[in-house]
Amino acid sequence: MSETTFTPRVFSGIQPSGNLHLGNYLGALKRFVDTQNAGSAETVYCMVDLHAITVWQSPADLKRQTRELCAGFIAAGIDPTKSILINQSQVPEHAQLAWIFNCVARMGWMGRMTQWKDKAGKNAEAASLGLFAYPALMAADILIYHATHVPVGEDQKQHIELTRDIATKFNHDYEVDFFPITEPVIEGAATRVMSLRDGTKKMSKSDPSDASRINLTDDADTIAKKIRKAKTDPEALPSEAAGLENRPDARNLVNIYAGLSDQSVDQVLAEVGGMQFGTFKPMLAELAVSRLSPITTEMSRLMDDQSEIDRILAQGAERARAIASPILQKTYDIVGMVGA
Ligand code: AMP
Ligand code: TRP
Repeated sequence: MSETTFTPRVFSGIQPSGNLHLGNYLGALKRFVDTQNAGSAETVYCMVDLHAITVWQSPADLKRQTRELCAGFIAAGIDPTKSILINQSQVPEHAQLAWIFNCVARMGWMGRMTQWKDKAGKNAEAASLGLFAYPALMAADILIYHATHVPVGEDQKQHIELTRDIATKFNHDYEVDFFPITEPVIEGAATRVMSLRDGTKKMSKSDPSDASRINLTDDADTIAKKIRKAKTDPEALPSEAAGLENRPDARNLVNIYAGLSDQSVDQVLAEVGGMQFGTFKPMLAELAVSRLSPITTEMSRLMDDQSEIDRILAQGAERARAIASPILQKTYDIVGMVGA
């Protein structure tokens, strides 16, 4: 374990590989904003375009999606003067440190990652080398800033554990206490938002059914319609969390309500316990629209001024490099590279 005390610093990232959805908002964006506003740590947030290309992205789509994601961050409340907001490829130190970590991480560790197994599927031979190395780049994203805390959704926990393993092995092999052992921050009711069509499956941008997710670009009518059609069971809502066991669809809608209204599941159930879904769904739809539509509107306003977005990203990159560059130089020196 690390003896050094590291300054608290928060890092997290989202892939610009498609539309932002409610899972990204509740599991990531909203929590990034809350952390920024709490003001107890420096915050660095990143669009991970190098991760996105581990699976095919058309160049024009990638550019549009990266700028759209930047607009989404800002519309959700990330203030580029309070947080450092960056696009990964504009800070080359991420990729440079990732190479070092490719030489620290072991093939066996990578092969055990569930995201790799899911995404590579049965035909691993045809997957990109980048997809296999994905978690080493993710470790570099985090450790190039000596980040101490990483807010993520439940699905990323295994990758943060791998980041800790890489830091530990590096510190051990080179007999230094250089990289922090980063903590994942997975808290709140909605760290795992499920599909509206199947409460046992994660809400995901890759789900072929658009009705399974609420996109941050959906208009009010679409949001209301998707919630009205969301899968449920015939029972009324319970008054306590225990009553949601074995009711994945009901639990998902209650979790979403809790996440959007900043309440715990028990607080929500104290209010809505005993209600039928016919009454609860319109309440949920109204809450979702009131929380999401200001973000949607602001996103599209920001997208009208691409040069402003590009300017913000250039500024973010400059601030980020001021932190990342000395850490990379020190890493090179530790590893034994001449000139560092
Ligand atoms: P991705 O879109 O896969 O790049 O994910 C970006 C962030 O959103 C990560 O912190 C994920 O853990 C989080 N996230 C993605 N999908 C969900 C979901 N269904 N529920 C909660 N968090 C999610
Ligand atoms: N792998 C993350 C995801 O798909 C995105 C990501 C890349 C990330 N680098 C990161 C998240 C560093 C947290 C910290 O959601």
